[in-house]
Amino acid sequence: MCRIALRLDYPDRVAPTPIVVLISGTGSLLAALLEASRRRDSSFTVVGVIADRDAPGLEHARAAEVPAQVIAPADHPDRAAWDRALAAAVAAHSPQLVVLAGFMRLLGAPLLDSHGGRIINSHPALLPSFPGAHGVRDALAHGVKVTGASVIEVDPGIDTGRILAQRAVEVLPEDTEASLHERIKAVEQPMLVEVVQRLTAAD
Ligand code: GAR
Repeated sequence: MCRIALRLDYPDRVAPTPIVVLISGTGSLLAALLEASRRRDSSFTVVGVIADRDAPGLEHARAAEVPAQVIAPADHPDRAAWDRALAAAVAAHSPQLVVLAGFMRLLGAPLLDSHGGRIINSHPALLPSFPGAHGVRDALAHGVKVTGASVIEVDPGIDTGRILAQRAVEVLPEDTEASLHERIKAVEQPMLVEVVQRLTAAD
């Protein structure tokens, strides 16, 4: 009786698309994804979180009872072994989409080959300007008046993949790297959620 009622309530509901999130830092983007995934109509669910170090952001995964794991380069004999371990850890979750949310390392061939075209990255600058590890610092040092955030497809280059979404943020005269980065993250979080929803809704 109860089962029949549930089916009638949600006749068109399909299982949310599994995604894996990779992080290195405080995990505010991850937190936004986890919060969005808890909405009743979410098109995705976070099935695993992987970090390259004991990142503070792993706490968000643990609090949400999502499997969290560290795959650190230091625990592997060389870069190639770490690349293989990372690809295997991601593949173990069978995700339809891999999201780099503040993951501060380049991906190697094993992960790119196994999930190519289904990996996206969020970056704190308006690409193709200011790629790399210091997008906020580099934009500030250059003296731009407007910067922002980008979500891109990941390819073998450094932030060279196809642009999926961008948001602009004004640079204020008194900005420090930290203050500017906070305002960028405020637009980056909902933008990343929107892109993930869009990509997974099509599954
Ligand atoms: C985000 O601003 C993200 O764009 C950036 O790290 C931050 C992670 O914040 N990523 C890069 O710079 C990649 N090149 P979080 O740890 O609070 O989610």
